[in-house]
Amino acid sequence: MERMASLMPILLYIAVLIAACSSSSSEAAAPATSFEDNFDIMWSENHFKTSADGEIWYLSLDKETGCGFQTKQKYRFGWFSMKLKLVGGDSAGVVTAYYMCTENGAGPERDELDFEFLGNRSGQPYLIQTNVYKNGTGGREMRHMLWFDPTADFHTYSILWNNHQIVFFVDKVPIRVFKNNGEANNFFPNEKPMYLFSSIWNADEWATRGGLEKTDWKKAPFVSSYRDFNVDGCQWEDPYPACVSTTTKNWWDQYDAWHLSDAQKMDYAWIQRNLVIYDYCKDSERYPTLPVECPLSPWE
Ligand SMILES: *[C@@H]1O[C@H](CO)[C@@H](O)[C@H](O)[C@H]1NC(C)=O
Ligand SMILES: *[C@@H]1O[C@H](CO)[C@@H](O)[C@H](O)[C@H]1NC(C)=O
Repeated sequence: MERMASLMPILLYIAVLIAACSSSSSEAAAPATSFEDNFDIMWSENHFKTSADGEIWYLSLDKETGCGFQTKQKYRFGWFSMKLKLVGGDSAGVVTAYYMCTENGAGPERDELDFEFLGNRSGQPYLIQTNVYKNGTGGREMRHMLWFDPTADFHTYSILWNNHQIVFFVDKVPIRVFKNNGEANNFFPNEKPMYLFSSIWNADEWATRGGLEKTDWKKAPFVSSYRDFNVDGCQWEDPYPACVSTTTKNWWDQYDAWHLSDAQKMDYAWIQRNLVIYDYCKDSERYPTLPVECPLSPWE
């Protein structure tokens, strides 16, 4: 009873809020970023759905096909962010990819920044894999455990990209820092503008325990959900090479965005100690000579 009583003011407050919202104009109630304004479906339109209010987008995978979308625009540098909720339950073999790429295919000269969520058998946690490609070459994988269940709720996954660093964020926590040493022919994608993509597909040849765990199609369709796309970046206009100014007033290009803040460094250190399960820079069997970017310090 006491609990009910203490809830009442909150419920009243919510009722007032709802009344306030619904009395505003219909224009203001429209989603801030409608899907059609920003994205195109890449394939399988019939495996894409939105919620009635258009705020949440669903991609589904079944035995027939997966589905994907991409931004209409390309960007060079900025902050790119989206909330995702991943396929729950037994999702072995299923990969949800959320990435930026200079092309809409796997071309031999593409640059790419990847988040990939590797499905797993029921009850086992998801792993998040990140990767960087430059001019068609990747092999820069890191894998992390997450500190929450990414299938239970929406979480924010973001990329900060400027000429000095690429930072992968999960809920504002930097999980990975990829630095530019500024030397010619280094491994830092910074020349070509990129689209942002997401897709869901079957990768049971490799995704779960190296391909041992197969997709259980009885559990289909597998659905990943999206909301709150946010880009604060430089929109590329062909053929004029915009976004190359060094005297820019864009926050993502400025000094403070060239390195982690002190608070971010603390979070990053904790992630490094506790949640990294694979780092290509530590894999000397695979790379007897480590790639050039490996010695670059994420702390500078
Ligand atoms: C990119 O890779 C291709 C081979 O796929 C090569 O011919 C080309 O020279 C490379 N470009 C640069 C800028 O390294
Ligand atoms: C699946 O979960 C197990 C147990 O946590 C883990 O060892 C394994 O690496 C996970 N596999 C993938 C592909 O996420």
